[in-house]
Amino acid sequence: MISELLKQARDFEARYMPFIPDSERPAFHVSGGIGWINDPNGFSVYKGEYHLFFQYHPYSVKWGPMHWGHVKTKDFIRWERLPVALAPDTEYDRNGCFSGSAVELPDGRHLLMYTGVHRMRRDDGVMEEYQTQCMAVGDGTDYEKYEGNPVLTAKDLPEGGSALDFRDPKFWQEEDGTFRCVVGNRTADGSGAILLYESRDGFHWQYAGTVDSCRNEYGRMWECPDFFPLDGKQVLLTSPQEMLALGLEFHAGYGSICLIGDWNSKTRKFSRERVQSIDYGIDFYAPQTLKTPDGRRIMIAWMQNWTNTNCLPPNARFFGEMTLPRELSVKNGRLVQNPVRELENYRCSRVAYQDVLVTGETNMPGLRGRIMDMTVSVRPAGNSYRWFKLNVAKDGEHVTTVRYKPECSTVRVDRSRCGIRYDVVHVRDFLVRPQGGAVKFRVVMDRHSLELFVNDGEQAATFILYTPESADSVSFEADGAVLVDVEKYDLNFEGGNNV
Ligand code: FRU
Repeated sequence: MISELLKQARDFEARYMPFIPDSERPAFHVSGGIGWINDPNGFSVYKGEYHLFFQYHPYSVKWGPMHWGHVKTKDFIRWERLPVALAPDTEYDRNGCFSGSAVELPDGRHLLMYTGVHRMRRDDGVMEEYQTQCMAVGDGTDYEKYEGNPVLTAKDLPEGGSALDFRDPKFWQEEDGTFRCVVGNRTADGSGAILLYESRDGFHWQYAGTVDSCRNEYGRMWECPDFFPLDGKQVLLTSPQEMLALGLEFHAGYGSICLIGDWNSKTRKFSRERVQSIDYGIDFYAPQTLKTPDGRRIMIAWMQNWTNTNCLPPNARFFGEMTLPRELSVKNGRLVQNPVRELENYRCSRVAYQDVLVTGETNMPGLRGRIMDMTVSVRPAGNSYRWFKLNVAKDGEHVTTVRYKPECSTVRVDRSRCGIRYDVVHVRDFLVRPQGGAVKFRVVMDRHSLELFVNDGEQAATFILYTPESADSVSFEADGAVLVDVEKYDLNFEGGNNV
């Protein structure tokens, strides 16, 4: 049964989405049909395809009562749009269907778990927003909310846990059939914790411990957790609000961090060993992962930062897009990420140069573009150099720069001159592993986004650009002398489906 609200959202999409031409959308990144999107939700394998839902407000380019939009793909690159999956149409989620996750049940149903939000006025007149966890069951297109909703409420919280900040369940099924779930919560000290719940059938849940707590060390509330084994370690992802900057590792504001350690599933103890940022760019939040049938752990995130959500390009009819799905691994105790290998199937028009001596600024014929996958390897030519810059999305007025300084082994991304007319963050610096002046950048661009992977994915830095698409030059610049290898591909999606 489809509710009035869900029907309204589906009709609205069908009526107005066709007015947005494909050429305004990213070519291979997921964007919303129309209106606003934020966090990726329900990233899961279902009947041999990858499904992705997202926080969605179709009616405007601003955040509003949250629906779940829905797309699917066979290869993480070409996506097919599906009808809106959830609307805030019940008593317990009337103010929003917030973030959550999905699992394919052994009986072939697709089970969603999400946060239902309802506002209530306290006795003293103050409005408060209560958050509970809810389920919905479907067939890959239509979803029915579970009659036993909500399945987790204030009574399932540990002592001191807040019923107002209790959200973003990420669940999975273990090999022995048990379902486990992690949920973000605010504790009595005002900062976040990740709670663990267990279930035998995926519908009835019990509190099973606290995986880790912030203790006011990495921001305050911890949103959008994910928790999985990878390369012999256990990884906890979360997106803290109100971070304080720390060195070049953590920037202030909304961050996304990765806690790497060990997990004892019998004692349910997570021992944290390392904490790092997941992405060192500007626009990256709320990542979520799935495991593919061939064993890869793939992560996707919202390619935005909450602080920048007023920075709309002129006449925007949709706002927000997802990152490219990325393959994760843990190497030397750190999270490593690279674009899904499926992207390589779309490469065409190879242009390559080797051992090009760069002193001052150089262009190389054939190197331009805004939908491209380009790898640039740099090493000193003789003595050391002071800096190397890769300039992209460039014309007389615009340029976006990735700079490497060997002396301090820092990379700087700088979009100050990309055409954004807002006074927000445009520059970020981060540390990379020193390699005697050598550095390798892989830059994936899709019209108005840039995803940078440094030294085979040891660091990633992601951000949005509003540069006109006609600004498509690439140049290389050095203070000193460097030798550069470049391999650049256009990406061809002919016959593909842009969403
Ligand atoms: C993170 C978040 C989630 C919440 C959702 C609401 O970006 O704040 O915690 O579920 O967005 O749209």
